Amino acid sequence: MGMKARLERYVIRPDLELRRLRRSDAAALFACVDRNRSYLRAWLPWLDMSADASDMMGFIESSLAGYQSGGCFRLAMMVDGELAGCVAIEDIEPAHRCAKIGYWLDARQQGKGLMSDAVRFLMRHAFEERGLHLLELRAAVDNAPSRAVATRVGMKLDGVLRQREWLYDHYVDLAVYSVLAPEWRALSGA
Ligand SMILES: CC(C)(COP(=O)(O)OP(=O)(O)OC[C@H]1O[C@@H](n2cnc3c(N)ncnc32)[C@H](O)[C@@H]1OP(=O)(O)O)[C@@H](O)C(=O)NCCC(=O)NCCS
Repeated sequence: MGMKARLERYVIRPDLELRRLRRSDAAALFACVDRNRSYLRAWLPWLDMSADASDMMGFIESSLAGYQSGGCFRLAMMVDGELAGCVAIEDIEPAHRCAKIGYWLDARQQGKGLMSDAVRFLMRHAFEERGLHLLELRAAVDNAPSRAVATRVGMKLDGVLRQREWLYDHYVDLAVYSVLAPEWRALSGA
């Protein structure tokens, strides 16, 4: 890392802080994934690759690499001081100034608007700090809570990718949402 001091944490609201992942998060991250395993497995394809805390280290290491390379930007969701999910800018493509958003949240923290606020922060960060032009979000067509997040934060539906994701034993169609930098400026009043 260079000489530039890096802001590590972002206070989003009194009960929500986003901060960079650390190697010391492995145990708490695994505990959170493990207690939400069946709930997350309904929509996320990586649960069977997260069998123990050491599997979490691979995810954390690639997140640390992403901070350095700029390839991705993943943050821990700290809800009332406890690790309760992740939110990320993934697949950052400098040539096209586009990237994807991804997220998951502890089931017991749903219904508070935490993810919508976290995604709004990531949109601001992507467009203002990183100069991106487009953010995309892909959610299985039947994943109503995730599609509601996309709509709530002002993303628009581009279309549906047929059978685009393999979920353990079946394919799912993915709804693709996006927001462009000028649309975000209009939404945010910036
Ligand atoms: C997708 C997921 C993050 C959505 O979580 P969520 O809590 O519904 O999303 P939000 O944080 O935006 O909260 C919205 C809910 O809080 C309510 N809410 C309460 N206070 C709110 C506030 N201040 N602002 C916005 N919403 C608020 C909303 O009414 C909504 O509840 P509803 O669904 O009963 O109408 C969560 O379901 C999840 O992790 N799912 C499993 C993993 C997954 O699918 N990941 C995405 C793959 S594409």
